Amino acid sequence: MELRELGSTGIRVSPIGLGTVKFGRNRQVKYPSPFELPGDDEIEQLLSIAQELGINLIDTAPAYGSSQERLGKLLPGPRDSWVIVSKVGEQFDERGSTFDFSHRAVISTVEESLRTLGTDYLDTVLIHSDGNDLRILEHEGAFDALCELKERGLIRSHGMSSKSCEGGLWVVQHMDVVMATCNLQYSDDLPVLEAAARLNKGVLIKKGLLSGHLAENSSLADSFTHIYSQPGVSSVIIGTINPDHLRRNAALAEIHSQTLSQEKT
Ligand SMILES: NC(=O)c1ccc[n+]([C@@H]2O[C@H](COP(=O)([O-])OP(=O)(O)OC[C@H]3O[C@@H](n4cnc5c(N)ncnc54)[C@H](OP(=O)(O)O)[C@@H]3O)[C@@H](O)[C@H]2O)c1
Repeated sequence: MELRELGSTGIRVSPIGLGTVKFGRNRQVKYPSPFELPGDDEIEQLLSIAQELGINLIDTAPAYGSSQERLGKLLPGPRDSWVIVSKVGEQFDERGSTFDFSHRAVISTVEESLRTLGTDYLDTVLIHSDGNDLRILEHEGAFDALCELKERGLIRSHGMSSKSCEGGLWVVQHMDVVMATCNLQYSDDLPVLEAAARLNKGVLIKKGLLSGHLAENSSLADSFTHIYSQPGVSSVIIGTINPDHLRRNAALAEIHSQTLSQEKT
C-alpha cells in the first residue's frame, strides 16, 4: 500500500488505519450491535493481517478500555514499522468517561500510555475532545503540555480529535494533525479538510463508515470514494474486529486512494 505524508510531520501513513475501540471496550459504545471483546489470538490475527496488507497506522486511546494494554502486549515489531496514534483528555472505567484537559493530566496520561504500550515515543497524540473544542484549546493546559512533550521527543506530532468545525480550524492553524469526521451523511468538517490541505496539515478521518450505521443502499465503495475525493485526507481510520472486513476495507482503500490521487494530480 502506498504511504502518504501526514501533513508536514515527516510521518508516512497508509491511506487506511486500524481503529481499535473494539479491541478494548464494548460498553457505552454506539455500534449497531453488541459484541464480545476479541481474544488475544483474534487480535494477533488482525494485527498480522493489517501488517501483511501494508497498513502501518494504529489508532488507540486510554478511553478505549484495554486497547492500549492489549496493543502493548500483542503489536508485532519492529516498533518503527507502526505509526501509533493515541489520545489524551478522556479516561474510561467502570463508571464511564471522565475528562481532564489540564497540563498535569496530559503529561501523566502520555507517560502512562508510553508504559502501557511499551514504547519510548508516540507518533501522534490527539486531544480527545468532549465537544467543547475551543474552550479546551484556548483555556486548558492540554495544548501547552503537548507542545512540551513534542519538544522533549516523547511525541512526534500533536493534534485534536475535534468535534466542531471551529475547533478543527483552530487545530489546523496551530497543530500538526486533525482527526475529523467525514462520511456520506456528515459534511460539517469539510472546511477543516480544505484548510488542512492549504496549510499542509495531517488529516485523519474518523467515523468514515458512520460507526457501522451505513444505510442499506449506500455501498462501502461509495464511502471510500467520497472520503478520498476530499482535499487533504492523509488516512481514514476504520474500526473493525472482523478479518474479512479488514481485508475488504484495505482493498477498497488501496483502489480508491490511488485512483483519486492520480485524478487530483
Ligand atoms: N476520537 C474520537 O472521538 C473517535 C470517535 C470515534 C472513532 N474514533 C476512531 O476512529 C475509529 C473508527 O471510528 P468508528 O469505529 O466509530 O467508526 P467506523 O470505522 O465508521 O465504523 C466501525 C464499524 O463499522 C463496522 N465495519 C467496518 N468495516 C466494515 C465492513 N467492511 N463492512 C461492514 N461493517 C464494517 C465495524 O464492525 P466490524 O467490527 O464487524 O467490522 C464497526 O462496527 C475508531 O476505532 C477510533 O479509533 C475516534
